[in-house]
Amino acid sequence: MSLQDKRVVVIGGTSGIGFAVAEAVLREGASVIVASSNPANVEAATSRLSNSATGMTIDVTNEGAIAVAFAQLGDFDHLVFTAGDWGARRGPLVEIDLEKARANFTVRFWGALAVVKHVQKSMTRGGSITLTDGMIAHRPSKGSALSTAMAGAVEHLTRGLAVELAPIRVNAVCPGLIRTGVWNSIPEDKREEQFERMTKRQPLSRIGEPSEAAEAYLYLMKAGYTTGQVLHVDGGGSVV
Ligand SMILES: NC(=O)c1ccc[n+]([C@@H]2O[C@H](COP(=O)([O-])OP(=O)(O)OC[C@H]3O[C@@H](n4cnc5c(N)ncnc54)[C@H](OP(=O)(O)O)[C@@H]3O)[C@@H](O)[C@H]2O)c1
Repeated sequence: MSLQDKRVVVIGGTSGIGFAVAEAVLREGASVIVASSNPANVEAATSRLSNSATGMTIDVTNEGAIAVAFAQLGDFDHLVFTAGDWGARRGPLVEIDLEKARANFTVRFWGALAVVKHVQKSMTRGGSITLTDGMIAHRPSKGSALSTAMAGAVEHLTRGLAVELAPIRVNAVCPGLIRTGVWNSIPEDKREEQFERMTKRQPLSRIGEPSEAAEAYLYLMKAGYTTGQVLHVDGGGSVV
């Protein structure tokens, strides 16, 4: 199934993995709409992409705004959801404020669900939805129980939606460590050393590039007989 002349929406497409998906989709001859919550990020991303890219400001925590935005957007073929925030509450369960901890699910789980709820009517037959979780779903570490649960919830949501929304296909990409701006909080002179430490037990002992993650989204958009699946792009980290 070719992406030529298809219309693809990437929520979270203004940076990181989502931006790489937008670039890859354009190379395949599709048009792309990149969306995220900060208008300045939307503007910057569309100006870095080709003329076949347009932007849409949308905050996935606001269901009313999602409904309006997609009612105006018109029909499209594929939805990719890579939106994520990084305010995750880590730490021993005994110290976690449970009210604040709920926010872990706001963008990545509830945001994804709200978008999916409002896009179905606009999606063409043969279309697909690709969600995003993370290797923490399969490789929990101490203090990350909530993130593990959130990522796992996205995978099970994928399975449930694949049944509910068929023949629209619903899949997820599960990235491992990918070189995006989210790691810029590590001082630059320490970053490569830290990536080496974080990936040394993996079969492919290096950080992944956003373009490598983007290949998985491309595959899932094109794979007409694949639904309810999770594709790992983690250098083999989840198998060791
Ligand atoms: N990078 C990794 O190593 C890695 C590993 C495992 C899993 N992942 C997962 O992969 C996904 C993408 O990660 P990334 O590294 O590409 O992150 P990123 O560069 O921070 O991109 C996140 C995107 O989400 C958008 N966003 C955040 N809050 C939003 C909201 N409320 N509404 C709409 N858009 C929103 C951001 O734009 P605005 O700020 O403009 O809204 C941005 O475009 C995340 O779910 C992340 O958990 C990444």
